[in-house]
Formats: sequence, C-alpha cells, structure tokens
Amino acid sequence: MTSPRKLSPQEEARLAQVRKQFQERKAISDQLGRIKNRIGVYSGKGGVGKTTVAVNLAVMLAQEGANVAIFDCDIDCPNVTRVLRISESPRHDDEGRFHPSSRFGVKVMSMSFFQEKEDEAIIWRGPMIHNAINQFLQMTEWGDLDYMIVDLPPGTSDAPLTVMQTLNLDGFVVVTTPQELAALDAKRSINMIKKMNLNVFGVVENMSGGIFGTGAGEELADEMSLPFLGKVTMREVYVDPQQPAVLESGEVADEFSEIALKVRQLAQSAV
Ligand SMILES: Nc1ncnc2c1ncn2[C@@H]1O[C@H](COP(=O)(O)OP(=O)(O)O)[C@@H](O)[C@H]1O
Ligand SMILES: [Mg+2]
Repeated sequence: MTSPRKLSPQEEARLAQVRKQFQERKAISDQLGRIKNRIGVYSGKGGVGKTTVAVNLAVMLAQEGANVAIFDCDIDCPNVTRVLRISESPRHDDEGRFHPSSRFGVKVMSMSFFQEKEDEAIIWRGPMIHNAINQFLQMTEWGDLDYMIVDLPPGTSDAPLTVMQTLNLDGFVVVTTPQELAALDAKRSINMIKKMNLNVFGVVENMSGGIFGTGAGEELADEMSLPFLGKVTMREVYVDPQQPAVLESGEVADEFSEIALKVRQLAQSAV
C-alpha cells in the first residue's frame, strides 16, 4: 500500500477553505432547521405598511403562544427596532454569538443594530447582502422558533431578490393599499415571487377605508388566484403608538388574529 502523498501548502490551504465553507453552510442549515416556518412580508412599494404588518403579525402570533422572531432584512430602511422601540443591541457572548433582544414576546434581529447612526444611509450590493444575512444566520442564537417573520426591502431589484434567495422563505404575505398603483406594484411583486418558484401565501390590504376606499386587495387576490388574508383598517392608533397596535386596540387585534389564523394554516400546509 502506498502512503498518502503529502499535500502541498496550496492544497492544504484550499482544503482548509473548503472545510471552513462546509462548516459555515452547516451552521446555517442547523440554524434554519430549528425554524419551522420562514415567512416574508413583502411589497414592491415602500410605505404601504410592510413593517407595520410584519410587527403586528409577529406580536399576534406570539400572543397566541407561538415562538416568534422578526428578522429585519430591509437593509436600506431597517425600521423594525424603531417601531418596537428597541434601542439595546443583541447580547454578544464569548463565543461570538448574538442573543437577540426580545420585545412583546418577539425576538428581534435587525441590520439596524450594526448601523452607527439611525439616519445613516446604507448602500449594499447583492453579494454583500448575501454575506451579511448568512453571517447573521450563523451567529444568531434564535433557539427553536415556530415562525420567523422577515421584513423585506421593497422593490423588485437586487436587495429583495438576494434576501429571498438567501433565506429560502416558505411563503410570502404581500401587502398592498387600496390605491391602484400600489396594487399594480403588488402584482409585480407576486409575479416576481412566482418566477422564483416561491410560494405566495396571499394578500393583505392595509390602510383600508378612508379616502382610498377598499377592495383593491381582494380584487388583486382574486385576479392572481391567491387567498385574501384580510384587511387592516387605516387608524390613528398606528401614529406614534407606545406599543404595537394589536396590543393597543381590540379592533386591530381582531383584524390581525384573522390574518394570523390564515397564515398559520397556510404555513402548516407549506411545510
Ligand atoms: N393601517 C394603518 N393606519 C394608519 N397608519 C398606518 C397603517 N399602516 C401603516 N401606517 C403608517 O404608515 C407609515 C408607513 O408604514 P410602514 O409599515 O413603515 O411601511 P413600509 O414598511 O412598507 O415602508 C408608518 O408611519 C405607519 O405607522
Ligand atoms: Mg418598512
């Protein structure tokens, strides 16, 4: 029998790199394996209420007894921590792992924890986003989760695409407002998700009622043959609340418990 040839320094280095990549991938898949459902909240348009829906849906699911985390992946405008009024960064242990802060029963991880100043502009390209998300996934001790709600960046460009691909989401809640233009953008978002062979759970109409009326969300869902998940009425309680609106108003809680029920059923059948 011949003894194994000694590896050259280059080969050793290459092998070490492959091993490292393998360990990184394993760390990520171990982390993701402990999360039963990963759900994206998304729309092509900014300002339609993605963050509002993501936060209130997460808090509602937690109120119902689920283990929930919210992962703020809106790299350019990470607002989840502001809405939840969290200022402390996640705890960092000796092994370099992050332990996310918890608020209103929801664990929170956000790109904003690593921003120097709240109003700092962040310009990320796809590969950087991919790396940052992978690093977050490797380093964060989420524990066992029933749901990870992901607040996505708007648009149909590099940033949301990268997040979708990297996190391998089980399904999406698409948010629209009753305005025609928002519904058109939402339609584009749905088409993009479908093109990537990912699953759309359904449509939420936010800012229902008031001057823009109501109904565009349901119409859009019908047109795209998707479930309509529910309406979230335009209300004053969302303006500068001390806590998420579902905890402030029984009417808001009713609206979100209907949405949460459908999301739970759809998530169950998706896995
Ligand atoms: N149903 C609603 N009624 C009243 N104001 C709302 C409602 N939903 C969202 N808002 C407000 O609209 C603004 C944009 O919502 P946000 O969730 O930040 O949108 P996005 O994340 O899509 O950019 C916020 O100031 C939010 O408080
Ligand atoms: Mg937002």
